[in-house]
Amino acid sequence: NYDSLDSTNNLALEFARQGASEGTVIASTYQTRGRGRFKRKWISPRGKGLLCSIILRPNLKTSSASILTHVAAASIVELLRTRFKLPAKIKKPNDVLVAERKIAGILTESSSYGKRLEYVVIGIGLNVNAKRGELVKGATSIYSEAKEKVENEALLDELLSIFSVKYEGLNGKVK
Ligand code: BTN
Repeated sequence: NYDSLDSTNNLALEFARQGASEGTVIASTYQTRGRGRFKRKWISPRGKGLLCSIILRPNLKTSSASILTHVAAASIVELLRTRFKLPAKIKKPNDVLVAERKIAGILTESSSYGKRLEYVVIGIGLNVNAKRGELVKGATSIYSEAKEKVENEALLDELLSIFSVKYEGLNGKVK
């Protein structure tokens, strides 16, 4: 877990290139250049969001990479529903909304070897303790919706355990 990084995805991609193993997770309290899709930025006030990147080496076709984004989104939805009773839902392909406001985003980046995936980095940004005024327009956080302050690290552990069950469940189901 890092104090500050440019982007957890950047470091995870570098580690993956160097051979880091499946399940390696990079988390940071703050990002100076958090990235979203389409060159958007991901802004999260220091210490108030869950920012992580998971390195995976799935035995999947390159064309199946989007399934992993979906598994991550479904994991966030499950966490928000079970732990905080929030009516979270997936906005395809890679956002999670609560009450029509964005609470989390996912940035999946991968490298292929022939037609198979070599490694995949799943970057997750989840707004946790920020107030609405600290976030971009149209965004929300767990604190804003559930009125509960949560420990980022404990939340990350819960998210990873939900994710790993779903990820293991993919084994044999998709190619
Ligand atoms: C989006 O909404 O377009 C996706 C946002 C993804 C943000 C997360 S925060 C952790 C990881 N590191 C990044 O630079 N981006 C992702």
